[in-house]
Amino acid sequence: MTDAFLPALAGIVDDAGLVTDRARMASYLTDWRGVFTGDALAVVRPRTTDEVARVVQACAHHGVAIVPQGGNTGLAAGATPLGLERAIVLALERMRAIRTLDREGFTIGVDAGCVLADVQRAAEEAGRLFPLALAAEGSAQIGGLIATNAGGTAVLRYGSMRALVLGLEAVLPDGRVVDGLRALRKDNAGYDWKQLFVGSEGTLGVITAAVLRLFPRNRATATALVALDDLDAALALFGMLQDALGETLAACELFSERCLELQLAHAPQRERPLPRHPWYLLIEAGSSLPGLRDALEAALAEALEREIAAEAVLAESSAQRDALWLWRESITESERREGASAKHDVSVALSSIPAFVREATSAVEASFAGARVLAFGHVGDGNVHFNVLLPPDGSASSEEINALVHGIVRRFRGSITAEHGIGRYRRDELSSHRSESELSLMRAIKTAVDPDGRMNPGALF
Ligand code: FAD
Ligand code: MLT
Ligand code: ZN
Repeated sequence: MTDAFLPALAGIVDDAGLVTDRARMASYLTDWRGVFTGDALAVVRPRTTDEVARVVQACAHHGVAIVPQGGNTGLAAGATPLGLERAIVLALERMRAIRTLDREGFTIGVDAGCVLADVQRAAEEAGRLFPLALAAEGSAQIGGLIATNAGGTAVLRYGSMRALVLGLEAVLPDGRVVDGLRALRKDNAGYDWKQLFVGSEGTLGVITAAVLRLFPRNRATATALVALDDLDAALALFGMLQDALGETLAACELFSERCLELQLAHAPQRERPLPRHPWYLLIEAGSSLPGLRDALEAALAEALEREIAAEAVLAESSAQRDALWLWRESITESERREGASAKHDVSVALSSIPAFVREATSAVEASFAGARVLAFGHVGDGNVHFNVLLPPDGSASSEEINALVHGIVRRFRGSITAEHGIGRYRRDELSSHRSESELSLMRAIKTAVDPDGRMNPGALF
């Protein structure tokens, strides 16, 4: 059957749409971290929803599995075709049209292959804001962001991808196109099926287009970096800022001194933004009303006065703002350059963050000599990236460290993935973090939509 399969694909997509050359396929077969490498019969790059549907039909006919891929920036190996005998990678990268932009209606309709930064730019050019923001925004695509229910640095104010999707178009595993590209803010006509696709990690179908919410642009933005002596202060400051700045508080991002040092090690020309302290909080507020900067300055002055904050710097220009953000946004890249790490995308109740980080850090350092904790993340969402650089002498594996940290997460009644998803990286741990009734409901949904198990097998389940 495979013999007839590639010619069938060649009859659907153009020459540039079918990649079978091993060298050209390589980058699609390895994940962003370079940890997982799989194999596939081909990489297929359709240009339209109709082509996607026909490719999916051909896969159904020939019994071939489909691994959807967006920008391949996922951190859970969900887009890597691992251990699959007959599979294609279905890359949406050529479907990148902005289909509609309704300025007055505050919506944008896009192909699934649109890169996030392009959507942000299109919104901005229309005087609007698409708020989702993350360090991979120059590559991550709308389809991938929806399929992982991406979070990022603006969830505090605008919610994760789930809150931003109004309408969806998807191709089901049998090749049928479901058109739910509506721009409605209220719609209770039956099951909200699109939400099933949000966070589905490519296991239910291929997302081909979406209608997304836009927001008013902030006319003023105030950004500050604050040094803290301990994690309890981070929580106290977050509470104070919420009281002082209300809904204008858009980001509250934490990182440790070790995260800062690692960046200095990989970019020694950069200058430390504040004198050395154990923790830093990057804060941003945005508003269309005047007085924002003064409000942030006053809140920080009070935090310094009450010795909640140790030091603080406020951005005086957009260049300074970008420079402050870089200390938060380039942690993951520095971590990748430093070497192998065990990733943990943990969420716990907000008030448990200090206790969780302290306990997990002590446990990792006591159990794995040479392991280095890099703790950072979206503190306002209770989401800590408790990443651990593996000991350079190879004395501990990622799996051993995951088991220890996730055991502590379970005791805190937290989640083993707040935003990156289960994918293949965390698949074997899902069953010990969800009840049997939850797992059987998930399996029932998967079986109802994809009875032959053709969509992204090995991811999630
Ligand atoms: P891919 O990696 O290509 O795919 C991810 C998953 O979605 C896979 O399971 C894939 O099969 C599926 N998929 C992709 N496209 C489709 C489609 N069209 N239809 C159906 N399924 C599809 N994530 C966060 O949430 N918050 C962060 O702050 C954050 N920061 C990051 C920073 C860096 C430096 C990096 C490298 C990653 C970061 N991520 C973050 C992870 C990643 O960017 C997100 O998970 C993102 O949503 C993945 O989008 P993608 O297009 O690259 O998807
Ligand atoms: C981030 O928030 O920068 C990424 O989600 C984190 C990671 O590298 O784990
Ligand atoms: Zn994150």
